[in-house]
Amino acid sequence: MMPGSAKALNQGVAPVTYGQGDRPPRGDYARAGADYTCAQDYGQYAEADHDTYRRLYARQLQQLPGLACDEFIAAVQQLGAPERIPRFDDISERLLKATGWQIVCVPGLIPEEAFFALLAARRFPVTDWIRRPEEFDYVVEPDVFHDLFGHVPLLFDPTFADYMQAYGAGGLKASRLDACELLARLYWYTVEFGLIDTKQGLRAYGAGVLSSAGELRYSVTSPGPRRVAFDLQRLMRSRYRIDTYQATYFVVDSFRQLFEATAPDFTPVYARVRETISSQGEIDAGVVLPGERQFMI
Ligand code: PHE
Ligand code: FE
Repeated sequence: MMPGSAKALNQGVAPVTYGQGDRPPRGDYARAGADYTCAQDYGQYAEADHDTYRRLYARQLQQLPGLACDEFIAAVQQLGAPERIPRFDDISERLLKATGWQIVCVPGLIPEEAFFALLAARRFPVTDWIRRPEEFDYVVEPDVFHDLFGHVPLLFDPTFADYMQAYGAGGLKASRLDACELLARLYWYTVEFGLIDTKQGLRAYGAGVLSSAGELRYSVTSPGPRRVAFDLQRLMRSRYRIDTYQATYFVVDSFRQLFEATAPDFTPVYARVRETISSQGEIDAGVVLPGERQFMI
């Protein structure tokens, strides 16, 4: 799940995610409540939908060894049987016991503030519809496979789970400070496309990579992209691409490092990043700064 922008759906305006075109989001928002959650429409799934889920799951699962971080591999089975789209309530029951998180159903992309409020309450929004067969390799909007397979396993990790909640609380604050664009970069480069350095080598923990057929291997093993050490202010200056594999990935040493580096109040951080951007500009995807250490493959 990615946050949409703050456009009010209840006024009949569709949410838009960063960089997305004018196309309205898929999904029936009439069934959502004021917090954008709804009941998982389990009856909507045809056998073909379960089959799509099963094939996506199988394709990703066999790629995990050597590419996904251990915390993800250890938790992925918590999603339940891989043959059918799970019932969200079953996963929530296990998740609540593990880390106090729950998953909640949403019709699709939701506005930023609603998204932040859910995360701050340890509720992770999951889209219930699944991509069409012709979108098997690539779907523009997050579907149930991306949201569940990509995001939910790491919510079973206590440190990562705390980071996600802190992100939500930070998002509510960023809305007030008009800093959502800077904060969205943090989400993008960690929660969606983050890499982690381990004793065994680089591994992926970002949901966008973990749920992608091609980018998982690309992000961890290809000599193509740049891989730089996580640095909050550098990251917030960095633009990102939504239409191709990433040209830059940020690497953390541990989820603890991520949590601690993002714990301080961002109010002065946003101010400093804005100053740096006005004096030195933003950093384009794929650009490495002079003297910056890269992780080499
Ligand atoms: N420390 C951040 C703030 O004060 C909140 C935050 C934590 C944001 C973790 C993102 C991730 O705004
Ligand atoms: Fe996502």
